[in-house]
Formats: sequence, structure tokens, C-alpha cells
Amino acid sequence: MFSRTQIKVIEFVRNPHLELFNACGGTGSGKTVSTTKGYLSCILDPTYWKKDFGIFGVSRNTIQRNILGVGAEHGLEWMLEGLGLTLNMGGFNQHGLVKIPITRDFTARIWCFGAENMASISKMTGVSLGAVLLDEVPMFPEEVMAKIWTRIRGGKTKIFATMNPQSSNHYYKKKYIDNPNIRSVYVHYNPEKDNPGLSEDDKRRMKSGLSGFYYERDWLGKWVNAAGLIWPNFTTIDTDYDDFESFKCGFDYAASGVQATVLIGTRKNGQQVILDEHKYVARDLSHPASMEEITQRLTDWLWSDWQIKARGHIIYPDPATHIPMKRAMRQNGFQLIDGNNEDAGIIKMADLFTRKDVVIHSRCKNLLDEIGSYSWDPKAQERGEDKPLKSDDHFCDAVRYGVYRARPPLMISRI
Ligand SMILES: Nc1ncnc2c1ncn2[C@@H]1O[C@H](COP(=O)(O)OP(=O)(O)OP(=O)(O)O)[C@@H](O)[C@H]1O
Ligand SMILES: [Mg+2]
Repeated sequence: MFSRTQIKVIEFVRNPHLELFNACGGTGSGKTVSTTKGYLSCILDPTYWKKDFGIFGVSRNTIQRNILGVGAEHGLEWMLEGLGLTLNMGGFNQHGLVKIPITRDFTARIWCFGAENMASISKMTGVSLGAVLLDEVPMFPEEVMAKIWTRIRGGKTKIFATMNPQSSNHYYKKKYIDNPNIRSVYVHYNPEKDNPGLSEDDKRRMKSGLSGFYYERDWLGKWVNAAGLIWPNFTTIDTDYDDFESFKCGFDYAASGVQATVLIGTRKNGQQVILDEHKYVARDLSHPASMEEITQRLTDWLWSDWQIKARGHIIYPDPATHIPMKRAMRQNGFQLIDGNNEDAGIIKMADLFTRKDVVIHSRCKNLLDEIGSYSWDPKAQERGEDKPLKSDDHFCDAVRYGVYRARPPLMISRI
């Protein structure tokens, strides 16, 4: 039995007049799985074998994780296995090439490119692509998308694109979806109906994390502007729980001299509590603070206030933190893992706060102050970009680095 959206994908593949399939909807609504299935039918169709295939993602890692899904259920490898086919060598080689032997005489070649910047697609020169999959296309910079487009036009082409709705002024909506010269279909995916892998509990949980424009975009699939506070819903607590399984820190490094650290405790039930904060302001702002001094203050704070020894504890710093600063932290015994600075983390955090997966202790005054004025930049919305208004957001950043790793896997019940 095919789902509604699966039928749309099949119709698109069969219709020779259509070139672009836009799968748009909320997180986890089944866009990638369903478009990958459609894309696979092109790979298997000899009429597409004259040209190479292409997959573009935000980075090569996201292609590996979201589409090839090596070893994971519902990834391309898994779909191929069901047909008795294999991804040659389980993934792409150092040039980003994936080979899929289809028949004795034909091996499909799929070029995988990260579309994060122009440099990452510069190797595309000379490659001519027929069927292409673009995963999370609004995250591609506009000039990268324009370059990709020039590579796939002409001859028999099929372009499959997945996306979460963005600001109503986003370039992809204006130039590609709404473009009367592009023969495209637009399919809205709703997590409620279009992902047969979600249980009722999953759906309830996903929905409960959304409010305001987040709900309009992610659930209703509307392209609306982000306005007002970025994290409008959060819960403060005064309770001092004693069931923490582990502690970690998020750290924002600002060359201007303000260093913000938050201590995060993870409870047995998985809830993360922002327990405390530490602000370090260089005494003399005309001189950068000594790295050793910053680290020593941090270590003293954790020990004197929390009896937490630096040794073995994880700090997630701003990935742009100066190397000497990171070195000083390591020398004091901290274990360092670069924080994740993807824009997606800002929106994901709103979700985690609304669901109370992350709560804030009321003693975190600096953080609470910052969240109270942490808002979307209306000027950036006019350009179609979701960006925070530039203000003091050191503690907000520290929380994000500490909490947001990557997209957490959805809890999918077996069917
Ligand atoms: N037809 C299906 N049958 C069973 N499980 C499915 C199906 N479609 C999707 N899923 C499950 O739901 C998960 C999310 O689906 P998918 O990655 O396609 O969503 P998405 O809309 O692309 O989400 P995102 O916004 O996170 O990219 C998949 O990893 C898979 O486990
Ligand atoms: Mg996806």
C-alpha cells in the first residue's frame, strides 16, 4: 500500500513534463524517505543511465546520515538491499562517488556533494547530472543552488528536493517553487498523515513541542516569517534534583572578553537541567584574558560550587574557540568536544524548551535575561533568512553548544 505522498512521487517520476519535485513539511514527516524511494526508481530506470546521478546535502555527512543511511532502516542502502543490490563499498569514496552495480553491464554513478559553500561544489566541474536529489535545499546558499541548477538542466532531468518551510521571503520559495518557468510539483508533508513510521505517541510528542510560527511552519507546512522571541516557551525550576546521571558544560568564547559557561545536568529520565552559569569578564578589556586564568576560574567554580572535578568532564565549546583556549582547558583535565553551531540548533532548542526536555534553574540570571530579549531579526526575515537579532547572546549560545548535538534520532516504533 502506498501513502498519499508516495503516489505523488510516483506520478512525478512517470510524468515526462515535470522536472522538479518539492517535498515540503515538518521535521520527521517522511519527506526524505519518500523522495529517496522516488529517486531510486530513476536510478533503476535505463532511460536515465546516459548521465551521472547526483545527491546534494547540507554536507557530505548529512548525505551519509539522512540518505544513504548506511546500516540504518529506510536509508538508500536498506532500500537497495531489499532489491538484492548493494551500495558499492557502503558509501562514497574520497571524491564523493557512490557506485551501485545495477546490471552486469551497468553501474550507476552517484556524485555526492556537500552544498555548504561554493568551494565544496567546485569539483563538480565537468560532471553532467540527470537525476538529482537535493536534501534540505533551503539550507544551501543561494549562489550554490544557482550553480547546481546550471549543472542539471538540459536533456532528461528529474530533481527531487526536500525542505522544511522557511521564511516567506526565502530565495528558494521565490526563485524555484513559485517560478512559473519551472515545471514543478509541490507536495506538503504532514507528520500526522505522511510518515507511517510514527506512532500516535511520537506524533503527540512532536506536536507538543511546537507553538507560534514554529507550529505554522513545522506542522502546517506554511512559509511564514519568524517573528518575536526565539525561545518563547521555557520553564524555570527552583528544585535541586539529586538524580543526575552526568554533567557537562557549554562554553561560549568571545574574543571581546566575556566568557559564558553553563553547567548542565542530565537526569535519569533524560531531562537536561541548566543548573548554573559562570560569567568571566576580562578585567582589562583592552587585553585578552589569559587562557590559563579563564580555565582556572572555570575549574574553581565547578569545584567550589558543585564539587565537580574538571577531570573527565565534557565541555562543548563554541567550535570557533581559539586553539590555545582549548589547549588550556584540556591541560586542566577537561574533555573537549566541539559544540554544534548549525543554525538548525536554534530552532531545535525552542522545541526542547517547549517540551520541557530542557529546563532552566532560576539561579541562571544572565541566561534568563538574555532569553528575554533573544529575538529574530526582522531585517534578516526580509532577506528570507532566520537570524537572531545581534545582542548579548553568550549564554544562549553556551546552552546551545552544550545541549544541541545533532538531530536526535526520532523514536520510531517498529511496524
Ligand atoms: N514509509 C515509512 N515507513 C516506515 N518508517 C518511515 C517511513 N517514512 C519515514 N519513516 C521513518 O521516519 C523517519 C523520518 O523520516 P524522514 O527522514 O523521511 O523524514 P523527513 O521529513 O525527511 O525529516 P527531516 O525533517 O528530519 O529531514 C525515518 O528515519 C524512518 O525511520
Ligand atoms: Mg529529511
